[in-house]
Amino acid sequence: MAAADRLLVIGGGQAGYQTCASLRAEGYEGAIILASEEPEPPYQRPPLSKGYLTGEQGPDDLPFRGNTFYEDQRIDLRLGDPVMALDLRAKRATTKAGHGLDFDRLVLATGASPKLPPIEGHDLDGVMTLRTHADAQDLKARLADGGSLAVIGGGFIGLEVAAAAVKLGCKVSVIEMQDRVMGRVTAPVVGQYFQDLHARMGVDLRLQSGVARILSSDGRAAGLELSDGSRIKASVIVVGIGVTPCEALAAAAGLDCQDGILVDATLTAGHPEVFAIGDCARFPSPYAEGRVRLESVQNAADQAKAIARAVVGTPEDYTAVPWFWTQQFGKRLQMAGLSQGYDAVAVRGSLEADKFSAFYYRGGRLAAVDSLDSPADHIAARMMIAEGLTPSPEIVGDQSIRLKDWAKTALETA
Ligand code: NAI
Repeated sequence: MAAADRLLVIGGGQAGYQTCASLRAEGYEGAIILASEEPEPPYQRPPLSKGYLTGEQGPDDLPFRGNTFYEDQRIDLRLGDPVMALDLRAKRATTKAGHGLDFDRLVLATGASPKLPPIEGHDLDGVMTLRTHADAQDLKARLADGGSLAVIGGGFIGLEVAAAAVKLGCKVSVIEMQDRVMGRVTAPVVGQYFQDLHARMGVDLRLQSGVARILSSDGRAAGLELSDGSRIKASVIVVGIGVTPCEALAAAAGLDCQDGILVDATLTAGHPEVFAIGDCARFPSPYAEGRVRLESVQNAADQAKAIARAVVGTPEDYTAVPWFWTQQFGKRLQMAGLSQGYDAVAVRGSLEADKFSAFYYRGGRLAAVDSLDSPADHIAARMMIAEGLTPSPEIVGDQSIRLKDWAKTALETA
């Protein structure tokens, strides 16, 4: 790799940070510029909706690396200055402050931004989304007095924030439009477990409910009016109804985008020297039909590592098994694989004992496994999905069989 090579990473989230760190770990010697619109060096987002809100983790726990890391690794950090335009022919990016950043290769790791519903009152003081450290600081301050919180959306953000707020002594309501929570990623059996858990912990969960408008008092948010006319009082409203990929920059530069920047199996976006990774990229996955866009730490980190290997060596197809996790009221759910389009589910363990795994099958093959406080099942699941192994529902249901052992034997006899 020529030392004169210049690689520009746009986006300072998990994917952008990991690209830079892995490039150096792989021996890349060219110049690395990391351009981020956020004002602080890259930090971890998972604690923002969990321990950061409850105070179990503080601002010092968030940064990926200490201050000297970027200088030591010759990573040129450009913070608080978003890239506004890209010229792929001239290989130059221009920032809001007017700086021109020339590159030989480009990694788009622009992430995603929270959706806001176009309903009356969404711009009131007290209505918030949660994505950045600044958002979390603001929310933490507003929840400090243990007031009332209404969360719109029963997905990851909504349920994690609800659990943290209950711990802080807040009165919490969650409004979910579907008939179950976390419906985007889990089966009804898993959603039901979390619904029961939240109900037991005092969360007022409203399923199949829409929000007609956000109520105000003295110019501040004061609650919600639901579509059935009922009202919920709340001084803080958190909106967690999903995200939109940040693709405008790529689209304006002429790259193909369809709910994400379209990339091939090597994560290349139409030009051999332009890659897109993380929340903003839609890629072909061997674990799904067609292209997918995944919003997870694992996907961002593993795609970044794949890019680093491709830049210093030969590009390979990206095939890492997707996995996710969430933690609510001390219960840890680990998800492996992609369950979309599943047609059968088998359960191992017991919901009553707060220890179980749901195995999802698609067309007779194991597609995904959600494990509640069952880390051994999760690890075995990642291996089985990677190797294309499918335990029958009978094997799954038999807890005397260790899945790791079953998988090992199945591999040896295959
Ligand atoms: P999400 O897609 O996980 O959940 C959104 C929920 O809002 C869905 O249940 C949906 O049915 C519901 N919804 C949509 N529109 C609605 C409406 N108008 N009224 C009521 N409900 C509505 O997205 P979420 O929770 O906003 O998370 C945002 C991003 O952050 C995602 O990328 C997520 O993966 C990530 N994240 C991941 C975590 C994890 O992996 N543990 C934790 C926190 C966030």
